[in-house]
Amino acid sequence: MWLQIQNFQEYLDDVQQSRADVLKFWEHEAGTYYWRKPWDKVHSGGFEKGDVTWFEGGKLNITENALDRHLNSIGNKTAFIFEPNHPDSFRRTITYRQLHEDVCRFANVLQDKGIEKGDRVCIYMAMTPELMIAALACARVGAVHSIVFAGFSAQSLAERIQDCDAKMLITNDGLRRGDKHVPLKDISDEALENCPSVHSVIVCQRTNREISWVEGRDEWWHMLIRNASKEHKAVEMDAEDPLFILYTSGSTGKPKGVLHTCGGYMVYTSYTFRNVFQVREDDVYWCTADAGWITGHSYILYAPLVNGATGIIFEGTPTYPDAGRFWEVVEKYRVTHFYTAPTAIRALMTFDLDFVKKYDLSSLKVLGSVGEPINEEAWNWYNTHIGGGRCPIVDTWWQTETGGIMISPLAGVTPTKPGFATLPLPGIFPVLMDENGDEIQGNGVSGNLCISHPWPGMARTVWGDHERYLQTYMSAYKGYYFTGDGCRRDQDGYYRITGRVDDVLNVSGHRLGTAEIENAINEHPNIVESAVVGYPHDIKGQGIYAYLICEHAPADLKAFKAEVHQVVNKMIGPIAKPDLIQVVPGLPKTRSGKIMRRILRKVAAKEHDQLGDVSTLLDPSIVPVIVEGEAC
Ligand code: PRX
Repeated sequence: MWLQIQNFQEYLDDVQQSRADVLKFWEHEAGTYYWRKPWDKVHSGGFEKGDVTWFEGGKLNITENALDRHLNSIGNKTAFIFEPNHPDSFRRTITYRQLHEDVCRFANVLQDKGIEKGDRVCIYMAMTPELMIAALACARVGAVHSIVFAGFSAQSLAERIQDCDAKMLITNDGLRRGDKHVPLKDISDEALENCPSVHSVIVCQRTNREISWVEGRDEWWHMLIRNASKEHKAVEMDAEDPLFILYTSGSTGKPKGVLHTCGGYMVYTSYTFRNVFQVREDDVYWCTADAGWITGHSYILYAPLVNGATGIIFEGTPTYPDAGRFWEVVEKYRVTHFYTAPTAIRALMTFDLDFVKKYDLSSLKVLGSVGEPINEEAWNWYNTHIGGGRCPIVDTWWQTETGGIMISPLAGVTPTKPGFATLPLPGIFPVLMDENGDEIQGNGVSGNLCISHPWPGMARTVWGDHERYLQTYMSAYKGYYFTGDGCRRDQDGYYRITGRVDDVLNVSGHRLGTAEIENAINEHPNIVESAVVGYPHDIKGQGIYAYLICEHAPADLKAFKAEVHQVVNKMIGPIAKPDLIQVVPGLPKTRSGKIMRRILRKVAAKEHDQLGDVSTLLDPSIVPVIVEGEAC
């Protein structure tokens, strides 16, 4: 189970083997898991038609690989350590055997409530073991889970439920995140006013606050599991049956339901977890992501369990009750592997080093970074103060759509360089494209990042909109998967991701579409039109800058900004609030009416001398007016 690439030569050999015969390479990897019946075909289809399959005809249930398979060997090993929001609250550890029982019980509950293979179940919960149990139970009965980050608003939750016609919602009464309380059940109730597909709501108790109740629809988790059997035979799935939908932002206003399937996703995420992090049997692995994002799905939930690792589920935030929280947890559980986002590192760097020095971090062996480019300063701080200069940093580049890590060092195996995701995993073939759509050869070059051959973990479609899937990923460069990222390949062939080249922002590692934010902002009655761009932000990586055309000039700009925040909170959630707003009399538009965001980005970044050619604008005189305007 713990077969890992041991050294750089082995990595190069595996790359070579995967180049020589990529199907054989992945087939060999797939052979190390438990299948009820082997696949008929290793792989078929391609990017052009977007009809990729892996291991089709193979029958499995991912939870048998994540749980049942381990019972005889490591049943008493800790699968999850739960660290609650407040350090003094009740914490617990759950063995593989207990987790198996809990998942079986809840799978029986789901089936009793009429959930069948292929049904969609929405999960909107606090970061607790029950969230993991809910997702695994869905997978066990063949239901497709859609986990929605418990920071999204009622409106966003409703959109996601409606898009996939979920039959059931699983939520909590509420959650605490730092010193904030989020009333999840109230938000759910509001969302469900517009979601006729949901007949059943299961509520797991977390905050014990008063909540409203709809008789006949709502039921308590603890009541339902009380008499449920701990025996459950997992439903047989085809490798290509859907496992989950995860909504993510794109260039248009509507989030996309990225769909992952059972077999390829399991094989790919497990392979990458084992080799990138190099987790060993007695290690304690901690990924600080939320389960509402792909990092939580792949590298808290599925891959660590399939590999039989011990992982931490953390409900809290990096700065609650103080900025030493991460390091206190590392010391308490003797964490060996720590995987977080650059935004968290940058935020913690601003505090006194005493918050770090107070704790014994000598257990750490590997550090990870994910979600956005990590700047050199943050990399060096992480390396020196957290890793003590002895822990390799794996800067892992990947996306919701890729399912698992694509370009990254393998810990202790690949020589690292600050700011570089370094080299692709074996079986992954990145290429850079120029503006003519041709592959750029050689090193010391930059271009748009594409992948030239399908891999098992890739998303298979956008739920209910295959055309959009083809349009977004497969149409920019025929025969390639387009990532939406810009990238540099340096003299040594090392990859450095430079950021998105489309209208997608990366704010604190969260992916947000500019159109999505604009749609929300435009709901304000005084706003006629808006244009949102990203700008460099010391902590968040990118901040949100909104240019607003108003019907009447706002009398009090600060109060107006607060109103804009309120609207965005309601439509999307607090993560999408603009950091800066600027009221403008017009926007720089081309003759065909397209907003020239390049100019707005330069103004937001205060790079006024780099505005470039503005002569193709319908009204170039708007540019100096915007440059001279003030942001609030
Ligand atoms: O721009 C890249 C950035 O995050 C995008 C994917 O976002 P999402 O689907 O939300 O998944 C985030 C977690 C995997 C990418 O297109 N990104 C992710 N990891 C890195 C990164 N940018 C630079 N370096 C990374 N390590």
